[in-house]
Amino acid sequence: MKKTTGRVQPFDRENPLKQFSGKLIVREGSPKFPPSVAKTMLDLALKGKTLATIHDPFLGSGVIPIVAYLNYQSQIQKIYGQDISREAVASAKLNMEQIGANPSTYSFTTGNSLVSPFPNEKDLLIVTDPPFGRACDWIGVDGNSTPVCLLEEFVKKAARAKIREIVLCFDQRAKVANQLRNHYQIKERIDLKDRTLYHLVI
Ligand SMILES: C[S@@+](CC[C@H](N)C(=O)[O-])C[C@H]1O[C@@H](n2cnc3c(N)ncnc32)[C@H](O)[C@@H]1O
Repeated sequence: MKKTTGRVQPFDRENPLKQFSGKLIVREGSPKFPPSVAKTMLDLALKGKTLATIHDPFLGSGVIPIVAYLNYQSQIQKIYGQDISREAVASAKLNMEQIGANPSTYSFTTGNSLVSPFPNEKDLLIVTDPPFGRACDWIGVDGNSTPVCLLEEFVKKAARAKIREIVLCFDQRAKVANQLRNHYQIKERIDLKDRTLYHLVI
C-alpha cells in the first residue's frame, strides 16, 4: 500500500471550481465538502484511465460530480449520483445546472445506498464521501438515522456487486481500515488534517 501522510499535496494548486464564478447551493445544515478534496479523490480514481463511469452514492450537494464535470470531462463517460435526501439531490441537480452541465452526462436519484446502491452499469468507479457520523449520520436500511458506522455494510455490498475500485474519504479517527480490508485491498491512503482518503481495489 502506498501511504502518504501529512497534508494533501494538491496535484493542481488551482481552484477546481475556477471555471465557475457562481456560488454552489449547499443543503441547509450540511457543511460544504471541500472541492480540493474532491479533486484529489478524482485524481486518485482517474489516474491512468481514459474513459470512466463514476458514481457517488452519498451525493450530498454534488461537489464530487461538479468537480469531475469541470475538470475531467474528457475522461468521463457518465456521472451517477444518489442520496437518501431529496433536498440533497435537488441541490446537486441545481448545481449541475448552474455550471452548465449537459443533462445527458449525469443522472442523480433519491434512494438508500445501503439498499440499492449501484446503477446498472458495467465498470462503475465509485468516488464518494459517505457520512462520518459527525456532521451527518448514516440512514440505515430501516430508514432511521444512526451515528453507527455503516461503512463496512456498504463496502461489502460493493464487493459483492463486483465493483473493482472505490475512492472514499472518511474521518481518520474512526478505525475503519480493518473493516475496509475485509473486502478490498487498500492501494493508497492519503491522510489529510481531518479526514483520510482510501483508494480501494479488489
Ligand atoms: C458527508 S455527506 C456527502 C457530502 C457531499 N460530498 C457533498 O458534496 O455535499 C453524506 C451524505 O450521505 C447521505 N446519506 C446518509 N445515509 C445514506 C444512505 N443510506 N443512502 C444514501 N445516502 C445517504 C446524507 O444525506 C448526506 O448527504
